[in-house]
Amino acid sequence: MVRKAEPYRIKMVETMRMISREERERALQEAGYNPFALKAEDVYIDLLTDSGTGAMSDRQWSAMLLGDEAYAGSKSFYKVKDAVADIFKYEYTIPTHQGRGAEQVLFPHLIKHKGQYVLGNMHFDTTMAHIELNGAVPINLVIDDAFDTQKEHPFKGNFDLEKLEKFIQEKGKEEIAFIIITITCNSAGGQPVSMENIRAVKQIADKYGIFVDIDSARFAENAYFIKQREKGFERASIKDIVTEMYSYGDAFTMSAKKDAIVNMGGIIGIKNNTELYQAASATCVPMEGFVTYGGLSGRDMEALAVGLYEGLDEEYLESRIGQVEYLGEELRKRGIPIQWPVGGHAVFVDAKKFLPHIPGDQFPAQALTNELYIETGVRAVEVGSLLLGRDPETGKQKVAGAEFMRLTIPRRVYTDRHMDVIVDGLAKIAERRDQIKGLDFVYEPKVLRHFLCKLKPIGLDPKAGEDVNPMVP
Ligand code: F0G
Repeated sequence: MVRKAEPYRIKMVETMRMISREERERALQEAGYNPFALKAEDVYIDLLTDSGTGAMSDRQWSAMLLGDEAYAGSKSFYKVKDAVADIFKYEYTIPTHQGRGAEQVLFPHLIKHKGQYVLGNMHFDTTMAHIELNGAVPINLVIDDAFDTQKEHPFKGNFDLEKLEKFIQEKGKEEIAFIIITITCNSAGGQPVSMENIRAVKQIADKYGIFVDIDSARFAENAYFIKQREKGFERASIKDIVTEMYSYGDAFTMSAKKDAIVNMGGIIGIKNNTELYQAASATCVPMEGFVTYGGLSGRDMEALAVGLYEGLDEEYLESRIGQVEYLGEELRKRGIPIQWPVGGHAVFVDAKKFLPHIPGDQFPAQALTNELYIETGVRAVEVGSLLLGRDPETGKQKVAGAEFMRLTIPRRVYTDRHMDVIVDGLAKIAERRDQIKGLDFVYEPKVLRHFLCKLKPIGLDPKAGEDVNPMVP
């Protein structure tokens, strides 16, 4: 497909600079070989996340001036509520400060007792943490093809329906707290879930009386893939596809920092369940704030109400996903192994294949991420064994299905020339890949360790890292 030019022009720019290689080496060492601890100004192209990093539009910025900062019942809240009713057809809306705020408010009401299971295609890390914090056990039931990075499959985020039903039958429906469908499936490589699969999951859920939550960070990108790849949706509008996807859920938890293109915000949407809405409202007040602002200012909600619609614009989605595909295709031309087809928000480099000499428990994708920073000043992020962590029961490292380095593309921020810098950098690294070393912990936090841990390259001076202060973020 011939790519069209971006359907926007750039009205404001931020200058960025590249520090020298020596400075980057020092910065990374001081960060304990964990790019989360780098100062953003020491990063040239920041591909850590697409969350809250998008460029808001002139319409969003101007809408912010209309923000009504009322503690209760602000008109800005009603704009979000109306957008949710219009797009998703859900009756109740609770704003939250971001996605994990939505999770912390809703999940306690869905988990009935300790040890219950939450069944997902693949849980995102903070989602997994909120499930575990509430005493439940997250189970990933994505299709096996998701882990075969070279295999063509249009919907690698799909649930394995057989596994899902078997799990419910084996454990008993009372042991299942809820099902969570993550669209697109971030941890599997930003991979979409088909409408057919979403519908089938809902049918299984209904058969056993199980609640369905939709983890909705990238709902519009998922709809775009359905339109592109699923038979019967070629002519449907993105909005109509979204409405149908959500007809198969009972609630959604959304990080609005992705597809709704705001710098901060989240939403809980609840379909016709007054009792659940009341329970979640009572939790929201002490946790996030009163139910008509949930940690957001009126200004934030104005930008969110506009962003929910902008995220649905097909020309924008074509340009956005087209750029991610461009990066993926250029990497493939240079022989860099990536999750294929590429997902919506990122290219996932297969570090297991790129660095076959580094075992999973020495974090090959983290080693590659560090090398990319040294080579190009680009900050990516590990999505593999380091992120997955240890089994809370046994303390053993969980075995990751894949070791990914995620090159996450912010929305409406970088140009294709920036993508080329990444491609050239990785091609250079490929030439000296054998020299890259695995990593070991200097400091390992118990929960969500990848954010704050400190590491050191294996085989380096054994004293390296001893002076790292784990209290410095
Ligand atoms: N669910 C999914 C699928 C996510 O990708 C994220 C965040 C969340 C929930 C939590 O939302 O950050 O607003 O609290 N993902 C970001 C990322 C951080 O980089 O992929 P949040």
